[in-house]
Amino acid sequence: MSETRFLEWMAQYQRTVEHALETHLPRTELAPERLHEAMRYTTLGGGKRVRPLLVFAAGELSGASARSLELAACALECIHVYSLVHDDMPCMDDDSLRRGKPTVHVQYDEATALLVGDALQTLAFDLLSAPEVFPDPARQLRAIHTLARASGSRGMAGGQAIDLASVGKSLDRAELEYMHIHKTGALIRAAILLGALAGALSDEQMAELDHYGKCIGLLFQVVDDILDATADTATLGKTAGKDASHNKPTYVSLMGLAQSREFARSLSGDADASLASFGEAAWPLKALNHYIISRQF
Ligand code: IPE
Ligand code: IPE
Ligand code: MG
Ligand code: MG
Ligand code: MG
Repeated sequence: MSETRFLEWMAQYQRTVEHALETHLPRTELAPERLHEAMRYTTLGGGKRVRPLLVFAAGELSGASARSLELAACALECIHVYSLVHDDMPCMDDDSLRRGKPTVHVQYDEATALLVGDALQTLAFDLLSAPEVFPDPARQLRAIHTLARASGSRGMAGGQAIDLASVGKSLDRAELEYMHIHKTGALIRAAILLGALAGALSDEQMAELDHYGKCIGLLFQVVDDILDATADTATLGKTAGKDASHNKPTYVSLMGLAQSREFARSLSGDADASLASFGEAAWPLKALNHYIISRQF
């Protein structure tokens, strides 16, 4: 697989997601204008769109339709953006910069940030539950259930609760892994599952893809921890060094940089291995794995 082929693949789907989000987010002219403007401010024109890209990559393997994948990808991104808006609020990580712009509570106000998160969360389920999103209603219901589980107290929101409760504590390796697979891993795993459910795959193939999703979900947050400690604010588009300054337990604080990088490589290797049976058709997922481990922001 050539680097250029992947970059073109990625750029094309990033444009697709941007256009779809642009279409599905409420227009600013509609009341309440300020809330709709803030939803668009934070969702459009930024971010790597990794979760949507994973939906599309898994969807290429499952043979899903473009419309199903587009809606599932937008749903995932809406939940993700909502999680970022709330994550940045003063009651959580208290961050003023996100995707190179002032965070929503800074640009607007805290109540608006809260409501942007609420509204994006429900928009995600609005999109995913639209009539005939998936050809098979039973699979659509499974997808809705999967996204709900991955977002709630047994998924992302639960992981965020553990994150907040862990400030100033030193977690052991199992505890840290548990926190990371919930706060970040759950949505990434769901992205893969939604792409798979939008089409058709055997149970065995679903299990292999799910294993890939689990590995790269944890990998994604290990790399986020590494970048927080090593990259600069301008490159990240969010405040660098804040995990250490906020006393957050991370892979870097637990095992240091060299071992964190080694762990990331082993997760990436496990993810690759779980794609073996798909052969060449899985090249976008392989390339995304490589992108996630080698990204600079
Ligand atoms: C940041 O996610 C928050 C984490 C879960 C680590 P991303 O690194 O995917 O952020 P964007 O969407 O590209 O801004
Ligand atoms: C991300 O954790 C988890 C969620 C947003 C759900 P972080 O707090 O490390 O994310 P960044 O570094 O602010 O993007
Ligand atoms: Mg956080
Ligand atoms: Mg944060
Ligand atoms: Mg971080």
